[in-house]
Amino acid sequence: MEVIIQSNPQTATHVAAKIIARQIRNHPSTVLGLATGSTPLMLYQTLIEMNLDWSEVKTFNLDEYIGLPFEHPQSYYHFMWENLFGHINIRKQNVHIPDGNAKDISKICQQYEQLIKAAGGIDMQLLGIGTNGHMGFNEPTSSLASRTRIKTLTQQTCHDNARFFGNENDVPRHVITMGIGTIMEAREVLMLAFGTNKAQAVVNAVEGPVSAMNPASILQMHPVAKVCLDESAASFLEKSDYYRWVYANKPAWQEI
Ligand code: PGA
Repeated sequence: MEVIIQSNPQTATHVAAKIIARQIRNHPSTVLGLATGSTPLMLYQTLIEMNLDWSEVKTFNLDEYIGLPFEHPQSYYHFMWENLFGHINIRKQNVHIPDGNAKDISKICQQYEQLIKAAGGIDMQLLGIGTNGHMGFNEPTSSLASRTRIKTLTQQTCHDNARFFGNENDVPRHVITMGIGTIMEAREVLMLAFGTNKAQAVVNAVEGPVSAMNPASILQMHPVAKVCLDESAASFLEKSDYYRWVYANKPAWQEI
């Protein structure tokens, strides 16, 4: 795991944007896994400003609430079009977001897996992390081998996401999420976390034991995982001096 610690969310976002931009420039028909929430907002804005060519890029979003109409301001469908897709030259047919309004949710979960496979797999998966260590909506105790499926949110996640809905009780309890097994098949993963409220989840994921109690800790088993943090999110890391030294002294031939 490569841990990149930057002084603030802006510079950490800049590093992540450079990684994604390079991926798109080097591989114009790349398959990206995308995330929602407050963490990637600045990243999407930065990517929009970079004027990249998204015409051949395919995307798969991590998750979606079940039962929220597409046009609901908190649906991830709405979020993605509002904050990224509506501002870049991506083709609508290349965008994939789990359909939380489908009649047969189990069926569309299976189809989502098939679509990822048919696209050749995900080249680079962007991830946030929940305060409870979830990635996507894979809550603690999710199977580390899980695939795209229905999950029930924990009270903690409903509490965390209440800020988007105004009220904890308005947060849908059921969601569709890519599984941990699905995420782990991405060729490269890029996790972003900012702020002190993520520090415990980050130290659990990066330096704690691999455990379904901390779903993001499975990234320790991923061959190409990068984690971009600001100082606050990195503040509990025991080996932070080492991570900083590694990043500051990367040989020029070793790309970010
Ligand atoms: P956030 O959510 O970016 O809104 O903090 C991250 C997550 O729950 O994965």
